[in-house]
Amino acid sequence: MPTGTYPKVPRSINVPPSNSQHWNPRPRTFRRSRILAFVALLLLVLVWYSHGPTVEVKKKNKLRNGLSPDGVDWSRYAYSQYATNGAYLCNSIMAFDALEKLGSKADRILFYPDNWDLEVTASDDRDSQLLVMARDNYRVKLIPMHMQSLKAKGKEEDEWEETWDFSINKFLAWNQTQYERVIHFDSDVTLFQHMDDLFFLPETPVAMPRAYWELPKTKKLTSVLVVLKPSNTEYEALMHASYTSEGQVHRFDMEILNDRYQDSVMVLPHRGSILLTGELRNEDHSNYHGNDYDYWDVDEALAETRFVHFSDWPLPKPWIMWPNNLLPEVLPKCKIKPGTPDEAGCRDREVWRALYDDFRTRRKDICRLLSVPAPQWPPPPKMTKPKPKTDDKKDKKGP
Ligand SMILES: *[C@@H]1O[C@H](CO)[C@@H](O)[C@H](O)[C@H]1NC(C)=O
Repeated sequence: MPTGTYPKVPRSINVPPSNSQHWNPRPRTFRRSRILAFVALLLLVLVWYSHGPTVEVKKKNKLRNGLSPDGVDWSRYAYSQYATNGAYLCNSIMAFDALEKLGSKADRILFYPDNWDLEVTASDDRDSQLLVMARDNYRVKLIPMHMQSLKAKGKEEDEWEETWDFSINKFLAWNQTQYERVIHFDSDVTLFQHMDDLFFLPETPVAMPRAYWELPKTKKLTSVLVVLKPSNTEYEALMHASYTSEGQVHRFDMEILNDRYQDSVMVLPHRGSILLTGELRNEDHSNYHGNDYDYWDVDEALAETRFVHFSDWPLPKPWIMWPNNLLPEVLPKCKIKPGTPDEAGCRDREVWRALYDDFRTRRKDICRLLSVPAPQWPPPPKMTKPKPKTDDKKDKKGP
């Protein structure tokens, strides 16, 4: 009879500072106890009225693991992003904006195609504007690179193949050996907490969470979040693995990282680190919880996670508008009498929509970019299936 239980206490980072330890358990005099009561009341009122800022200040002053960020040489640690097109460049800028607002202290690096430039030649030269903004407003170190891509085949029906094709560019972070540690996270996310504490994990070549949505049948690691120790050897090895795998089906950054690190990785707990928007559409949350007795509360999940990753296939990524005829079947269902006028228990749906709205608003405000028009749904019959470049690769596909 497993009864649903709420996770008991929210994480300490979200709790307003408690003053209880400053109190004497048994005040010696009546007068003193009256003064104490008054002070307590005053503090209570103060905490009550300054709730938001108090939490923020606390966030900035202490890392999630309880360590103080003072006295750390933050130039030894960096967050890494890479951009291969304008949409992803904006995502990265939004991620840097969030890191800045959340008070992250570490360096920020961005790899971008070396044929882009920083000369703003026209008011609509958005890529150059965003690069300059990254450098000047968010203290991002810009690293021009010849961007690599894999010509491997993606899922036939996958509309976003290009995002996978270039995914090996996250390996570039391994070559930044001036850093002690680098954190890569995918940019199609909304960040709720910075991850500065993850720079201080015990020594390990990489730390990654599992692709929890594929548990328990596979125990794959997800490359959505990678804490890595830069190393030229590892960089070369990963690039070598990429090129020797070229042309194979489903061998992208994630597969390559799994092959290399599955038995030596430090597994980051996915719960409290990453949350997929698709989780809000699930009825069964046991994969996320790692058990079948915890009670799903979407607000709890949001409060504990570091970021939310937009993943609602077949719905496009949030910078692309929703095909209206697809939306109703994808929207999270209400818990009580779904689809009727009396439906209730729609918190998952509200939060889900708010996550998309928030992303789109920030995209407009920060990058001044409008959403890409919705694709046709269902997709028109494919005239141009994603094809391997050469015929010999087609032959290799085999059964
Ligand atoms: C990787 O790092 C090495 C040495 O630090 C450097 O010579 C090489 O150019 C780098 N490669 C790339 C692709 O950045």
